[in-house]
Amino acid sequence: MLTLDRVNKTYKVGTFGGKELRAVRDVSFELHEGEVVSLIGESGSGKSTIGKMILRLLAVNGGRITVDGVDVVGLKGAALRDYHRHVQGVFQDPFSSCNPVYKVDHLFNVIRDIYFRGLADDAWQEKLAASLAIVNLEPGQVLHKYPHQLSGGQLQRLLIARALLVDTRYLVADEIISMLDASTRIDVLNLLGDLKARGLGILFITHDLSLGNYISERTVILRRGRIVEMGATPAVFGQPLHPYTRMLIASVPQLHQKWGEMEAGSRAGTGWAPAPTEPCRYHAALAGGGATAIPTDPAGSRLAEIEDGHFVGCVQPNDDGTCASRPASSV
Ligand SMILES: Nc1ncnc2c1ncn2[C@@H]1O[C@H](COP(=O)(O)OP(=O)(O)OP(=O)(O)O)[C@@H](O)[C@H]1O
Ligand SMILES: [Mg+2]
Repeated sequence: MLTLDRVNKTYKVGTFGGKELRAVRDVSFELHEGEVVSLIGESGSGKSTIGKMILRLLAVNGGRITVDGVDVVGLKGAALRDYHRHVQGVFQDPFSSCNPVYKVDHLFNVIRDIYFRGLADDAWQEKLAASLAIVNLEPGQVLHKYPHQLSGGQLQRLLIARALLVDTRYLVADEIISMLDASTRIDVLNLLGDLKARGLGILFITHDLSLGNYISERTVILRRGRIVEMGATPAVFGQPLHPYTRMLIASVPQLHQKWGEMEAGSRAGTGWAPAPTEPCRYHAALAGGGATAIPTDPAGSRLAEIEDGHFVGCVQPNDDGTCASRPASSV
């Protein structure tokens, strides 16, 4: 199991890095093998930052990331290489993940150099073909070609095949569908379903609610670096607890609706704020004692379990954990 436990990330911003931007705040969730978890939030909510911290492409400023209970935040050298045997990532733009100067074989050779130095050529070719077969590609279709000679969908599947060459248990898939056309999207989505059936745990990062709803067992909704709600996907989409989740769901364009009809429901964006009358389910639950906060420290986790496995955060949190929507006396 891959676990994030109150993970934080602060970027230094401003001309001389004199200001701080808290991109991820106290984020805790779990990813099991054989499940897809959607991480959903609008642009800038911190989704990629979380993905990159899991992949160890970015340093963590606080909290723990563990795999089977082992903290991976401080891994270096051989231990980090070993971690990447099990945890791999695929990103939004397949073309920018490749060096246009090299044929795509180079992508695989890099992995061979790191993890399979002793493997004979025949065995390596077999391994490569097996990996490509999982993503429905024939070696002859794609190898010995330059990235621009492949379609976006082929290249994205090829990058997934590369991620599968090692003994991958967890895959961070960061907006991997968004640059593909509609017909290729469904292929790649279904491929993720196959990988899940093979036992992979997939963190499916998206700003598209309908994709998350289609593919995942569990959903985590992120706003400004904080989790506002998480739970089983049917519960989050069917009985959303947080007004922000409700607003996101209401903003999804429906095929039968026209732009004018959409406007009333679509106020997505950084300017969103809960209505002043909106009750805070998180603070009400903590005050009433009717919910379990996770993990054991409610101030640290800032989520309350309202129903079985369905968590909600404060409706409008201040930095100190109090609620801007409720007077202190009622919290
Ligand atoms: N290297 C960086 N230096 C400074 N700030 C950064 C850096 N990377 C991201 N940020 C900021 O951190 C916040 C979270 O960014 P992040 O890329 O994680 O968002 P995101 O949810 O993936 O957005 P998108 O949907 O647009 O990809 C944003 O405000 C972004 O501007
Ligand atoms: Mg992103």
